[in-house]
Amino acid sequence: MEIKITKAEVLKEKPDSATLGFGKKFTDHMFMMDWNSEKGWYNARIVPFENISLHPASTVLHYGSEIFEGLKAYRRADGKVQMFRPIENIRRMNRSAERLCLPQIPEDMAMEIFETFVSLEQDWTPSAEGTSLYLRPFLFGNDESLGVHAVHNATYVIIASPVGSYYAEGINPVKIMIEDEDVRAVRGGTGYAKCGGNYAASNRAGERAAQKGYSQVLWLDGVERKYIEEVGAMNVMFKIGDEIVTPMLSGSILPGITRMSCIEVLKSKGYKVSERLLSIDELAEALQNGTLKEAWGCGTAAVVSPIGELCYKDVKYPINNGEIGETTQMLYDTLTGIQWGRIEDTFGWIKEIK
Ligand code: PLP
Ligand code: COI
Repeated sequence: MEIKITKAEVLKEKPDSATLGFGKKFTDHMFMMDWNSEKGWYNARIVPFENISLHPASTVLHYGSEIFEGLKAYRRADGKVQMFRPIENIRRMNRSAERLCLPQIPEDMAMEIFETFVSLEQDWTPSAEGTSLYLRPFLFGNDESLGVHAVHNATYVIIASPVGSYYAEGINPVKIMIEDEDVRAVRGGTGYAKCGGNYAASNRAGERAAQKGYSQVLWLDGVERKYIEEVGAMNVMFKIGDEIVTPMLSGSILPGITRMSCIEVLKSKGYKVSERLLSIDELAEALQNGTLKEAWGCGTAAVVSPIGELCYKDVKYPINNGEIGETTQMLYDTLTGIQWGRIEDTFGWIKEIK
């Protein structure tokens, strides 16, 4: 494919790694490509990072036709840059697109775009411990009319941001509140798609949790409010006795790529992993009788993040004395080891940037 590259005349100064935080600084360029139901994808281009101009009737501004992805490029000790499982993000984006009636991008094309864009921006991949270049692809409906229907025009954009840790706590345990009022998604809805609307609908509960000192909420299923689903920006796993339990992909939770990777690592090391229904009652019992040994969240931004406290109906349950447990630590070390190229990638997950 042809990608027209227009370079920025003045390059920005790279930020100090210590000040990165998450998603606040952006690189010099961005990728853009348009789609029309008759022409297909056209006008693939890399341009200087700038504001996007939209027609005030643009579909995305009224009806929320938007999906996004999140993946990272990592700087190895030898200076090379590599991405983690980008093909999985491409496939998930296409599944999200199918759900929202947005256009899909052929896998080869989407991969070539990632490689070209990251290769151009690779100097922005920081090298300090725990830092990476976060890529945020997003795709939105861009018809200039107010009718409600599948879109005929869409735009695909990728921006990139050098990031540190997502939570202020870093690798230290986070506190999570179990939400029993609002729900995030229901089966048949958009829970499995990575669409902006899911996050907009999550904000009220997130704000309530934040006011009580919690980092995020743990969602229960939208029908019975009985089964554990996932946390605001990560999937969740529990070590109950010797079993690792994670909610099964029922259609209402996001099929996380970190979740999938954790399961593969755990199985390769001989752990018993169950993807199944986990009720709040079973979890509460395990919290009370001490069989809940560890809990953690996993996601691209959050990496592997220990959960040190759960709060349900105003009762606080500390987990593993608020400390990171051995399985959580093993997963963190293995995944980050592969991502930063410190340990051999026996799974074939890494894509090196030329
Ligand atoms: N669940 C939600 C709601 C998320 O936003 C994310 C982050 O992308 C995840 C789970 C984890 O997904 P992944 O590991 O693919 O980043
Ligand atoms: C990610 O981990 O990539 C996410 O998309 C989480 C995010 C909503 C910050």
